[in-house]
Amino acid sequence: MNTPKRYLITAALPYANGLKHIGHLAGAYLPADIYVRYLKAQKRDVVFVCGSDEHGTAIPIQATKEGTTAQAIIDKYHPIIEQNFKDLGIQFDIYHRTSDPLHHETASAFFKDLESRGDLETKTTEQYFDEQANTFLADRYIKGTCPNCAHTEAYGDQCEKCGKSLSPEELINPVSTLSGNAPIKKETTHWYLPLNRHEDFLRKWLLEQHASDWRPAVIGQCKSWIEGGLQPRAVTRDLDWGVKVPVAGGDGKVLYVWFDAPIGYISATKQWALNNDKDWKPYWNDPETKLVHFIGKDNIVFHCIIFPVMLKLHGNILPENVPANEFMNLEGDKMSTSRGWSIEMDDYINKWIKKENGGESLADCLRFYVNSIAPESKDSEFTWKGFQDAVNGELVSIFANYVNRTWVLMHKLTKGKVPKIHTEFLDEDDRALLVSVTETKEKVTALLEQYKFREAQFEVVNLARLGNQYMQKKEPWILAKNLDTDPTAQAKIDNCMHGCLQLTANLAILINPFLPFTAKKMCHLMKVVDRMLEWENAGKFDLLKVGYSLRPPELLFRKIEDEEIAAELAELKANAEAKKNKMETTNTSSAAANTDQTNELGIAPLKPEIVFDDFGKIDLRVGTIVEAKKVEKTDKLLELLVDLGFEKRTILSGIAMHFNPEDIVGKQVTIVANLAPRKMRGIESKGMILMAEDAQGKLYFVSPSEAIASGSTIA
Ligand code: 2FM
Ligand code: ZN
Repeated sequence: MNTPKRYLITAALPYANGLKHIGHLAGAYLPADIYVRYLKAQKRDVVFVCGSDEHGTAIPIQATKEGTTAQAIIDKYHPIIEQNFKDLGIQFDIYHRTSDPLHHETASAFFKDLESRGDLETKTTEQYFDEQANTFLADRYIKGTCPNCAHTEAYGDQCEKCGKSLSPEELINPVSTLSGNAPIKKETTHWYLPLNRHEDFLRKWLLEQHASDWRPAVIGQCKSWIEGGLQPRAVTRDLDWGVKVPVAGGDGKVLYVWFDAPIGYISATKQWALNNDKDWKPYWNDPETKLVHFIGKDNIVFHCIIFPVMLKLHGNILPENVPANEFMNLEGDKMSTSRGWSIEMDDYINKWIKKENGGESLADCLRFYVNSIAPESKDSEFTWKGFQDAVNGELVSIFANYVNRTWVLMHKLTKGKVPKIHTEFLDEDDRALLVSVTETKEKVTALLEQYKFREAQFEVVNLARLGNQYMQKKEPWILAKNLDTDPTAQAKIDNCMHGCLQLTANLAILINPFLPFTAKKMCHLMKVVDRMLEWENAGKFDLLKVGYSLRPPELLFRKIEDEEIAAELAELKANAEAKKNKMETTNTSSAAANTDQTNELGIAPLKPEIVFDDFGKIDLRVGTIVEAKKVEKTDKLLELLVDLGFEKRTILSGIAMHFNPEDIVGKQVTIVANLAPRKMRGIESKGMILMAEDAQGKLYFVSPSEAIASGSTIA
């Protein structure tokens, strides 16, 4: 393809049923953003769409868990996720939602169009039905044992352990997730997309036309689907949450979430066009548009097989590429929010970015490390130590160090101004530096065009490395010592600093797609406008005009300290442990309570019976909080000084997310006074404060009904 007339870039619409973690960021959003920023720097016509996927059973299931409605769930998570992306510099042209009426209209019309032309077929089959809940059990409303890996908690649409796509019929010992009962079978009619009719098209389009320009793992998955024989795929469900089936016989049914969600890319484009007074149609209908879907590998079948068939039938263009990423694991295990083994984008933003002035550089640190280990061809592994090494070893020691040395020296040796060039003193090294910039630009451009983002970023940092070597070789600080004796010294210093400054401008352009906040800060240092970052400027060595005075040095990145990494690791382990305990408690509770009532109400089950002597061993006392402060570098811990009448004790309590230290001084609380001391974060905690927790997770102190002497016993 020659340079396309326009681009439509999509990133998988995340389910608005909870926070998204950095594995999601690595899978689709960061690579898409890098690509789009590069295309925009090339001044191409690009629209970058994304938004919330707000249908499917995942949403009402989360609503039940949180004791609220599906609408409340999407209204809660949609804005948080949207803001999280912004804070990490993921710059969509529109972040839409599939609950929007425009999407419902678009998806309905799409379905009707296919249905009216006979591209769908209906079938009546027996499907699982929950008699108690009086509903069919679609997708996540049914679980059982996975036929592939024997995992006992596999869902009706997928086993989360082995990743296999499933249908409810394949589950061994299926049970309803609504009532816990074994389901019965009942007849129901649904619409199907007969994929079997499109095998030849898919074979040609994917296995012949794109066999060599798409990622091998993507083609590999498509091949195994196609060769396994494609079956008609149900595109409707017996549910009430979703886009209503808009044709006769559709009462009580909605479109399958995977039918409506990708159409969300089209509705998002329509909304973008409305907002910007543009025409959306060429982005989906004109063959001169290049459509690229950025997704994680679990979405391949939907974007490479099902959606393309839908697009073809509907008369739209097909994706030019689907550069799906593999998964990013965390510290040796699969990332999972439900198991507490993950780093939520929201957490990272609150803990790292929002906490300090200039925290955006920490957004770029995350972007940098995640992209440097992007799972482009195989699963990769995020470790906190790796994060620290990447930031300290490359961003701080190479990239920021280069810029900082340049700025400090330029202020010392060339009066804070861009010095002129003395052509008579230019040498091989100066010329080589210019060649390196041109070569790097070519390499980075080619790599970006091939969706090889991690290698592309490596090349940019490598250019900064070359800059350091150049400066080291030229040693302008030594030349400066010889100014009195060497009449050529200032000219050589000028040439070196001129080269270093022009290289900095080039680095800003080339790093911009990867580290946009950093590029912006570099523009600020250089006192240039963002327009300088246009790609066509890379390779030029006159970007900063001679005589132009530049701002004083400012560090681009700070070092990541060992304690910060230790704190993250400790917190990750503590979170996973807490989630594990919670799950075990919930499981015990459902087993004991049989009807699952306690679970629904969010009330924890009773622990096993104890005898009076067990209780008698615990010394409970009334204590008065006399001092409270946050423990540094943790989010959860407060360090309290508690008066027990006979002594004052330090007690650490994990309540910092719930109470401000200044609000709780003077409070009387219940203390387990004879608990063995424990050291946390180097502080010894002598006892424990009892807290009550309601179903929403809100914490309350357990206090005497009236003020009472500190140290009073409780029994
Ligand atoms: O896997 C997911 O998170 C899906 N919500 C992705 C949907 S992508 C598109 F089709 F909308
Ligand atoms: Zn499995």
